[in-house]
Amino acid sequence: MPFTAIDNILTGRFTGKKVNIRGWIYRKRESKDTIFLVIRDASGVIQCTVKRNSKAWKDAEKVTIESSVMLQGTVKEDKRAPSGYEITTDKLEIIGLSEVFPIAKDKSEEFLRDVRHLWLRSRKMNTIMKIRAEVLEFIHEYFKKQGFFEVSPPMFISSAVEGGSTLFGLKYFDESMYLTQSAQLHLEVLIYSLEKVFCVAPSFRAEKSRTIRHLTEFWHVESEEAFSTLDDLMRLEERLVSYVYQNTAKKCRKELEALGLDPKELLKVKAPFPKITYNEAIEKLHKKGFNIQWGEDFGFNEERTLTEDSAGPLFVYAYPKKIKAFYVKAYPDKPELVMSADLIVPRIGELTTGGARVDDKNELIQNLKAFDLRPEDYEWYIDLRKYGTVPHTGFGMGVERLLAWMLNLESVMDTIPFPRTTRRSYP
Ligand code: 4AD
Ligand code: MG
Repeated sequence: MPFTAIDNILTGRFTGKKVNIRGWIYRKRESKDTIFLVIRDASGVIQCTVKRNSKAWKDAEKVTIESSVMLQGTVKEDKRAPSGYEITTDKLEIIGLSEVFPIAKDKSEEFLRDVRHLWLRSRKMNTIMKIRAEVLEFIHEYFKKQGFFEVSPPMFISSAVEGGSTLFGLKYFDESMYLTQSAQLHLEVLIYSLEKVFCVAPSFRAEKSRTIRHLTEFWHVESEEAFSTLDDLMRLEERLVSYVYQNTAKKCRKELEALGLDPKELLKVKAPFPKITYNEAIEKLHKKGFNIQWGEDFGFNEERTLTEDSAGPLFVYAYPKKIKAFYVKAYPDKPELVMSADLIVPRIGELTTGGARVDDKNELIQNLKAFDLRPEDYEWYIDLRKYGTVPHTGFGMGVERLLAWMLNLESVMDTIPFPRTTRRSYP
């Protein structure tokens, strides 16, 4: 007899029928004549009862929390059972008897991160990982529908993208290399062949900040598009974020509810998003009592305050040149401002950074020097401006920040199976 997934049984289609399931013991409770076993598999949990007079009784007595088992029995509807259905057990087979499982109720977040390899079995992590998988799928779907090609950039790189202070260096045979901070520069190469490209890949930051939104290894969604403007870019980004929100609300209803979220709330995140300039943002902050100077970058508090009123995402664009990277293009009529946009979201702050790229060779070389970078290290990148340069834009978005915002989670650490931070590289 084949095995049935537990969520399949919970549809009611198997009521009155015999089923085989396999999974792990999630809960166990014993009364005089009955042992209640709650079994979990990837898809869900179901309660199974074992009667004292059945053949399964001996093993049911012996079985421990987190033991792996196979179980056969008859499905019945039972309003009192936690998921509305119950299996009356005929046969129970222990596959792997578990030692005393270290995770019990009321363990600290810190402890749960130490035993992450075991905590990933929890209903909470199971649900988050399912939504994460769907979200990644929606991101791919969206870009493909817009005619973007998925490409695979390198992780070993020879020159910095986002400034030296967050670079992870490593020995690469006899050379020094780095782990990539962003695929952007390599994606820019590929637009001269494919025009519209995207990737979803890890980026690495030797980020000393210990905040709810920083990891040293995160998954980075990045795109580049030839012949596009900053307006095109903001439209692409807001539609991508809406697409993910709308589809997650529809397809992950059960999972969202399991996390205590209302799918209807997600439906409210819909393009277009409000857009204000950096100058307008500064004005707004001054009105709210911040004494930030023009030319300073926003910190976490400023970003939070900016999204306070709209309670939704917000673009800030046209930043001072000196707080953005060497590759961002200046406004021709206002050279102190660059065509860069950050998408800022409630609670988390910056979700994306993107912008128009310098497409003129001389402007690029000038910028590199102004940023204390050596043009020799960026020869191939400069080449792109020599041979048929085009105006183009692109952006990057952290998958973990998107999920932490969407699922109202305390930290980006809750959204990735094995978070890497300054203090954590185990398991
Ligand atoms: O703002 P960032 O540094 O921009 C870039 O890397 C550009 N080269 C991207 C591009 O234009 N292709 O990073 C982009 C996004 C951030 O807005 C944030 O969502 C995420 O990547 N991010 C991090 N997420 C988690 N932990 C960190 N340490 C992150 N650093 C950046
Ligand atoms: Mg940024």
